[in-house]
Amino acid sequence: MTRTLTLTRPDDFHLHLRDGAMLNGIAPESARDFARAIIMPNLVPPIVTGAQAAAYRDRIAAALPGSDFVPLMTLYLTESTDPGDVIAAHKSGVIAAVKLYPAGATTNSASGVRDFDKARPVFEALAEAGIPLCVHGEVTDDDVDIFDREAVFIDRVLDPIRRATPALRVIMEHITTVDAVEYVRSHETGLGATITTHHLIINRNHILVGGIKPHYYCLPVAKREVHRLALVEAATSGDPRFFLGTDSAPHSDDKKECACCAAGCFTATHTMPLLAEVFERAEALDKLDAFTGHFGADFYGLARNDTRLRLQRSDEPVVFPRKIETGAGPVTVFDPGFAVHWQVVA
Ligand code: DOR
Ligand code: ZN
Repeated sequence: MTRTLTLTRPDDFHLHLRDGAMLNGIAPESARDFARAIIMPNLVPPIVTGAQAAAYRDRIAAALPGSDFVPLMTLYLTESTDPGDVIAAHKSGVIAAVKLYPAGATTNSASGVRDFDKARPVFEALAEAGIPLCVHGEVTDDDVDIFDREAVFIDRVLDPIRRATPALRVIMEHITTVDAVEYVRSHETGLGATITTHHLIINRNHILVGGIKPHYYCLPVAKREVHRLALVEAATSGDPRFFLGTDSAPHSDDKKECACCAAGCFTATHTMPLLAEVFERAEALDKLDAFTGHFGADFYGLARNDTRLRLQRSDEPVVFPRKIETGAGPVTVFDPGFAVHWQVVA
């Protein structure tokens, strides 16, 4: 049995760090194990200009004194985003990608895109400059069931955008369905997908059976077991189009444990041990390094990290913190619901 793993220091290609007291409290949880992360721009107000992205990057650095963690910034696409501003922000090295939120799809997405035709000039500019577009892939139509929103988005929105702008490099973020896995697999180039830690672990029963579990509620919502199994298969298959984006999304407990619970699972604290457990159970520990350390960097055109992260397996289950205390309140750490035997040792 494998007892130690020496991995390329991993990157997280989808991360929420928030701002202010929450940022200060939770940023060290990611910076401990990860070298870099794609930082989501859904603050209030959202990060829509290069200057805002640069200022946010500096606040992240200030929250991590002495750390070599590199935040890779993104811009929040709105219907009035100026393609020239996006290109300038990319040329000056401030942003690594642009994020598309369909308006109303998730936390702080009200300023997102309603009419995708209005964003076409930005899509064309991104395609020409080779800047990746990170996509929250869910429609928001009232008549579409929440469990079908990702599959319908692929047909109604994503595929038409990609046909109209074939050179656009797209990352389908936090995929949750067989449909998304198959869609990514049916395209040779220009399309990748991130998979979260929690979607590899929970299905919709975990959220709903025996009472509603707010800390398992996230968006896109976890689907049936058959979909979770497809995600595990994709993540552990060694296919470079699938890579880690944790979507670790902290909300203080008062925002989760209430009548209208915020969406998000917080996995930054122990994502690497959880993934080692998932990959070990899938008999694919040899595929973990590429999923967390190679494929995402390659898709983004970044050099792979030349530092390492070591994990060790113990016979006894490892105990992780149940909560992270922050100046914005306590944040509950995701409970995988099974014993984890792996821990990061260096
Ligand atoms: O669960 C989620 N939480 N999904 C998202 O798309 C947004 C995120 C958040 O910002 O809390
Ligand atoms: Zn997210």
